[in-house]
Amino acid sequence: MTEIRPPEVHYPLDRAFALEAVRVTEAAAIAAFAQIGRGNEHDADQAAVEAMRAAFNRLPIEGTVVIGEGERDEAPMLYIGEKVGLGGTAVDIALDPLEGTTLTAKQMANALAVMAMAEPGTMLNAPDTYMDKIAIGPGFPEGLIDLDAEPAANIAAIARAKGVSPTDITALVMDRPRHEALIAKIRKAGAKVKLITDGDVAGVIETTNPATGVDIYMGIGGAPEGVLAAAALRCVGGQMQGRLVFRNDDEKARAAKWGISDLNRKYGLMDLVAGDVVFSATGVTDGAMLRGVHRDGGEFITTESVVMRSATGTVRWIRARHRRDKSV
Ligand code: FBP
Repeated sequence: MTEIRPPEVHYPLDRAFALEAVRVTEAAAIAAFAQIGRGNEHDADQAAVEAMRAAFNRLPIEGTVVIGEGERDEAPMLYIGEKVGLGGTAVDIALDPLEGTTLTAKQMANALAVMAMAEPGTMLNAPDTYMDKIAIGPGFPEGLIDLDAEPAANIAAIARAKGVSPTDITALVMDRPRHEALIAKIRKAGAKVKLITDGDVAGVIETTNPATGVDIYMGIGGAPEGVLAAAALRCVGGQMQGRLVFRNDDEKARAAKWGISDLNRKYGLMDLVAGDVVFSATGVTDGAMLRGVHRDGGEFITTESVVMRSATGTVRWIRARHRRDKSV
């Protein structure tokens, strides 16, 4: 007899999806591996995109890309709205097959293959614009930080909550000219600034790991990356707020196209990713969170991934050895 599910009952994503998610990011990372250090961002991205798409199309899902490589007219693969999978459970997908194309091309640390799968309709359809973001890790009182507060106030709040001085606080910020004033304010408040050249999904996640020494993420990065980082925080814990930042009317029109009417809205973590979500990342180059792809002798390729589920908060690190003569 077919089970009838009352609509008000919440059913988490099948936990088997966690392992399936890892296969997808592993495939993208392995494909990008051949492009590490070759100075060709386009080829690196393309290799990861093709492999990720092929991996999705081996999964028993009816997937819809809601955060992808761009709009249909500009991205031939994994464009927003593209359907992927063999058919099965309906999921929305946010992906970045190569988060850190420049990092990969220049063989710099922290490039990742990343994706999140969530219940349909529960992730913000973020357009390919910027997002002003603030994030901290788990264990703090709700509402401790505020995107609209001065950096000094946020730093003082987190220092108080940790029982330390603002001079003991480290803020992670993308190294961009647009952050000159922000960086000056953070330093004036007494805190230290850790600058990254790229890869703010990993940057936000650093706040959740005490071993990194990063207490807070602040500043403007990609909006799609904001949703991906929020998916990770929904699983591992933490707080995040974001607001879209538009450079021109075209970007505003894109937001409107994806159903965003309030262009000035401040999104909380649950507004960015509301539903049950699985997040997976595989290291491409060695980084703070994950080891990159390596060739292990002639025969094997090794990968390191992290996969998390919001339903249980379980975080798994998966080290895998792949046979080079067999496909993933
Ligand atoms: P890509 O690898 O997709 O190019 O993104 C890298 C990245 O550093 C993101 O992590 C970040 O959110 C965004 O670019 C910042 O954009 P910009 O380089 O324009 O400041």
